[in-house]
Amino acid sequence: MKRILIFLSFLSVFGLVSAAGGGYSLDRANIDASDAESLQRGAKIFVDRCVSCHAAAFMRYNRLMDIGLSESQINQYFITDDSVKVGDTIKSAIRASDSKAMFGVVPPDLSVISRSRGADWLYTYLRTFYKDDAATTGWNNLLFPNVAMPNVFAQEQGVLQVVQSTNGTNGLTLSVETEGTLSADAFDNLMLDVTNYLVFMGEPAAEKRKQIGSLVIIFLILFAFMAWTVKREFWKDIH
Ligand code: HEC
Repeated sequence: MKRILIFLSFLSVFGLVSAAGGGYSLDRANIDASDAESLQRGAKIFVDRCVSCHAAAFMRYNRLMDIGLSESQINQYFITDDSVKVGDTIKSAIRASDSKAMFGVVPPDLSVISRSRGADWLYTYLRTFYKDDAATTGWNNLLFPNVAMPNVFAQEQGVLQVVQSTNGTNGLTLSVETEGTLSADAFDNLMLDVTNYLVFMGEPAAEKRKQIGSLVIIFLILFAFMAWTVKREFWKDIH
């Protein structure tokens, strides 16, 4: 028992250390994968604001039906180009060679970015862009120093500047220089929607998988009970 306790306390200390992840303090993304409206808002922002640079090669438009959209809604609100069909994958509007010339890197495909980065990282990243005159795009990011991506939400979030701080990420923290069109809470909620959608894209069938999982567990419990009653019936006369 004692050994188990020692082992568990080691595990939790290790968990805390790895969660801290090299001095970055991540904000918790309180997303709800069953909130279809949040996912729909996130999907809309994704196609309107991210697809100009990023693709999602493993995501077909018609998978948006999994979050409660109809085929005609997808055609009407999510596909702007007539040559694109609902069964197509989400392609970027920009050619890889052009973005390489513009940003120095090709913006990565975002289909499964939530698998490698995790929701908290994405949520924090999207909210920690700050003004940096030394950067080519004019922007930098607390979580991703010298990032080649500009801040696409400067209008909504406002312009943030970086200040030295003892309790911020990497000894830095952000303060508002120019107010945006959204309040801080409304902007955070918008970024939760985007994060929710990025996580959905990472595994569109996740919700279904969990539902099936619960049904399977219920079935197994019922089956175990039936097997036990049958066994008792068979062995009754033998004992
Ligand atoms: C103007 C072009 C542009 C737009 C628009 C854009 N990005 Fe980016 N994004 C980039 C570039 C370029 C990079 C690569 C940054 C680097 O490697 O320094 C990047 C990197 C990222 C990364 C980090 C990937 C990694 O390496 O882990 C994420 C996440 C991301 N973008 C999400 C988004 C989301 C979400 C949107 C829409 C809200 C968006 N981006 C819109 C250009 C863009």
